[in-house]
Amino acid sequence: MLKDNLTLSGKTILVTGAAGFIGANLVKRLFAEGHDSIKVIGIDSITDYYDVNIKYERLKELESIGQDWTFIKGNIADKATISELFRKYRPQIVVNLAAQAGVRYSITNPDAYIESNIIGFYNILEECRHSYDDGSEGVQHLLYASSSSVYGSNKKVPYSTDDKVDNPVSLYAATKKSNELMAHAYSKLYDIPSTGLRFFTVYGPAGRPDMAYFGFSNKLVAGKKIQIFNYGNCRRDFTYIDDIVEGVIRVMRHAPERKTGDDGLPVPPYKVYNIGNSHPENLLDFVTILQEELVAAGVLPQNYNFEDHRELVPMQPGDVPVTYADTTPLETDFGFRPSTSLRDGLRKFAQWYVTYCNSSSFTTNK
Ligand SMILES: NC(=O)c1ccc[n+]([C@@H]2O[C@H](COP(=O)([O-])OP(=O)(O)OC[C@H]3O[C@@H](n4cnc5c(N)ncnc54)[C@H](O)[C@@H]3O)[C@@H](O)[C@H]2O)c1
Repeated sequence: MLKDNLTLSGKTILVTGAAGFIGANLVKRLFAEGHDSIKVIGIDSITDYYDVNIKYERLKELESIGQDWTFIKGNIADKATISELFRKYRPQIVVNLAAQAGVRYSITNPDAYIESNIIGFYNILEECRHSYDDGSEGVQHLLYASSSSVYGSNKKVPYSTDDKVDNPVSLYAATKKSNELMAHAYSKLYDIPSTGLRFFTVYGPAGRPDMAYFGFSNKLVAGKKIQIFNYGNCRRDFTYIDDIVEGVIRVMRHAPERKTGDDGLPVPPYKVYNIGNSHPENLLDFVTILQEELVAAGVLPQNYNFEDHRELVPMQPGDVPVTYADTTPLETDFGFRPSTSLRDGLRKFAQWYVTYCNSSSFTTNK
């Protein structure tokens, strides 16, 4: 296992995409851990890709924690905003989670991906680079979100960070792979310790409405049918949000070491990890448990007939039957593997979903 080389106490941590699903949960956890004098700066442009009320609710919760928390509503693609932020707060750890997410949306809205994922990330890298100007200690660790999408339609499972990922099948995936390449170049050129995290389908309370489990829930509540591809025989890695956050925090505490190579130049302090469950779940089991937990939470009636509301359909072209993460490097380096069961994770989602269904935003977005 790697030894921690960064303590979070006393640090100023920048989290981009802080009103987002993973970002808000990360900030909450950073404060819950009780580090001394930890200061967290969050930035988010509150895009309307999905119900902004969920983002404002998350921010309200962060505000109520009452610790050293500063939120800036701003766009990471705006160079002046990001320069000003780095100049004013001098973050020592940066976690870049702001991005235009989603695979399908990138077909109709490519601009949003180039702006947030490419230009936005470039601005973050540039500020990390200049954080060392005049001999300042600057950014000690940059973490950034990549995605399991970089594996495209690779056939070999489990997906390993050693696999070739040069054939993205969406612009979203191409931007995430580009982020890894850009980070590598900046780590090499400017000795920025950087770690890319390839997340595998994250779910949980106040999660993203654009994701399948959320859409399924909306449909079931509305009495509609859900389509389950490959007759439910697809197997996927579903990762509970708390496990993702635990993984991010562990990785945060160990910045890749700066070293000098035989040529006298920096060896890039650069790492990429998969963060997923490494335990693929059958899609039909996933939706069956989801439906049971929605019944238990009182969202669906006790006598709900699931058979009538599900339609088992063939595979969609381009779909891969089994995808999951090889998380051996994460386990070896950080002694961690996600452990939340689907039942426990979906129960927590269903219990949150009850309150969401009763809120006005659900009625307007249904
Ligand atoms: N949730 C998953 O299953 C999953 C899987 C793989 C990768 N990821 C990646 O993890 C990161 C976080 O994902 P999430 O699920 O929390 O998504 P999210 O959409 O809930 O959060 C992203 C946040 O970034 C903000 N944002 C977008 N563009 C911005 C910009 N230009 N400037 C400032 N803020 C901006 C959005 O308003 C949003 O609140 C993203 O980079 C995403 O691509 C997520």
